[in-house]
Amino acid sequence: MKIIIVGASGTIGRKVTAALEGQHELIKVGSKSGDIQIDMTSPASIEEMFKKVGSFDAVISAAGSGHWGPLEGINDEAFRKGLNYKLMGQVNLVLIGQHLINPGGSFTLTSGILSEDPVVGGAAVSAVNAAINSFALAAAIELKNDVRINAVSPGVVEDSPEIFPAFPGHIPVTMEKVVAAYLKSVLGSMTGQVIKAF
Ligand SMILES: NC(=O)c1ccc[n+]([C@@H]2O[C@H](COP(=O)([O-])OP(=O)(O)OC[C@H]3O[C@@H](n4cnc5c(N)ncnc54)[C@H](OP(=O)(O)O)[C@@H]3O)[C@@H](O)[C@H]2O)c1
Repeated sequence: MKIIIVGASGTIGRKVTAALEGQHELIKVGSKSGDIQIDMTSPASIEEMFKKVGSFDAVISAAGSGHWGPLEGINDEAFRKGLNYKLMGQVNLVLIGQHLINPGGSFTLTSGILSEDPVVGGAAVSAVNAAINSFALAAAIELKNDVRINAVSPGVVEDSPEIFPAFPGHIPVTMEKVVAAYLKSVLGSMTGQVIKAF
């Protein structure tokens, strides 16, 4: 398969990339790294990427982030960071990519545990994660040509110790479990699922 991995250099993306490398043709995408550089917040940049790639069978997105901080300090501008980047960046990969992806292809987006198990300071990210999950559920029933879509929802991962203090009581998930969730989505046949890795 020819697989586009957006966020291939990231904490999660690099492990997913390593698991697929050698068995598939991978197009690694990042903001500064990879085979192609894009800014996911820009639909024009996403269109340009698809133009460069040509035909493809799958998109994995392991990119995105949003505002972190106490609710009382979140304003409209701060909240929209996650909407523009983590939510619309990933949604636009699908809205644009649906017209270009090969029949039987798949989209795998990334949400996260905060949609259902919130922590202090994570309200903006929780909302974005829930939106990504719902988008995957709904888009699955409309995508044409047997194209599939799933969202992987990781818990805090073992390779991100710098954020453990923000997740009191959360047990870090192994990278093996996280990578397996992405492989299940891309290589399996499920669609419209939130694949929990926690
Ligand atoms: N880490 C965790 O514990 C955890 C837990 C639950 C959910 N998640 C979610 O999983 C996803 C990946 O997390 P991560 O920790 O692996 O992230 P990360 O280490 O920060 O990596 C982010 C990746 O996204 C790319 N990127 C950054 N800005 C971009 C842009 N504007 N356009 C396109 N690509 C861009 C980066 O490329 P460059 O290196 O080239 O800039 C990098 O490859 C995120 O959605 C995150 O919210 C993470």
